[in-house]
Amino acid sequence: MTIEAVAEARGDPMARQVKRSGYAGRSVVERKRGYKKKVKRSSSPPQPSSASMALQDLFQSCKDVFKGPGTIPLPPDVDRLCHILDNMQPEDVGLSSKLQYFNPNNNNALVVQGTVNHPRVSYTTIYQSTNFSLYIFFLPAGGVIPLHNHPGMTVFSKLLLGEVHIKSYDLVDCQQASSSKLRLARLVADKVYEAPCDTSVLYPTTGGNIHQFKAVTPCAILDVLGPPYSREDGRDCSYYRDFPYQDFSRNCEGEEGTLMTEEEGREYGWLEEVEMPEESQMDGIEYLGPQVVENGTCFC
Ligand SMILES: [Fe+2]
Repeated sequence: MTIEAVAEARGDPMARQVKRSGYAGRSVVERKRGYKKKVKRSSSPPQPSSASMALQDLFQSCKDVFKGPGTIPLPPDVDRLCHILDNMQPEDVGLSSKLQYFNPNNNNALVVQGTVNHPRVSYTTIYQSTNFSLYIFFLPAGGVIPLHNHPGMTVFSKLLLGEVHIKSYDLVDCQQASSSKLRLARLVADKVYEAPCDTSVLYPTTGGNIHQFKAVTPCAILDVLGPPYSREDGRDCSYYRDFPYQDFSRNCEGEEGTLMTEEEGREYGWLEEVEMPEESQMDGIEYLGPQVVENGTCFC
């Protein structure tokens, strides 16, 4: 089954973003020798290769931690997953800094797409279930995943390769009602991350639940989503546009019920929900790295 078919069959909102294109995404991932892409069912469980032990550990830990919608990992579980992710290498998912795609001077992705302003982002699915999913996002230089939320979800993001600018917000309550569609949000992150770096974690209402990625250089981000998006379960993805706090500072007082100073206002912004931006369109590509093994079945 192709990645597109899997996404559509599960009603995953990512499916709406999957489009075929001339993008040379398949060259992003190194194929592991000896790996077979068919689902295996045997009495003796297939053993992951040494290169995938970290991935298998991550997978098993996710199974232990994410028990379905409503699950918010406890601090020891967060530490456990972060520890695994912090130590993961690109090779654990079949990637390498030597791949041409990740050459900082590589502009091939932009040329192939012919859309210099909106180089397309690709993603691949390592695993997905109703409890959690493992994705890798590939952003060419200049590629953007626009501001979007993660309703009721906990998300671990591990930058495997490259440099990316991450901006993130958490919504906060205004002290007075406003007829505006703008929502006050506290700025959580607004900086460039360079691999290797620590894993970032966002929660349903904290940690920067609404975030945006802009690739400074070609990069790869491993995401753990628990639970995944589900329109049926009320976890659809919404997109936003942000404005500086000072642009609409009289719309609403701050969290403490007072108008903020200019300096205080720099830690906040206004978010307006928007239709799915064009640059959110992604190409789904096949995952060709080491596989995870579930109950004797290779998720291939
Ligand atoms: Fe996200």
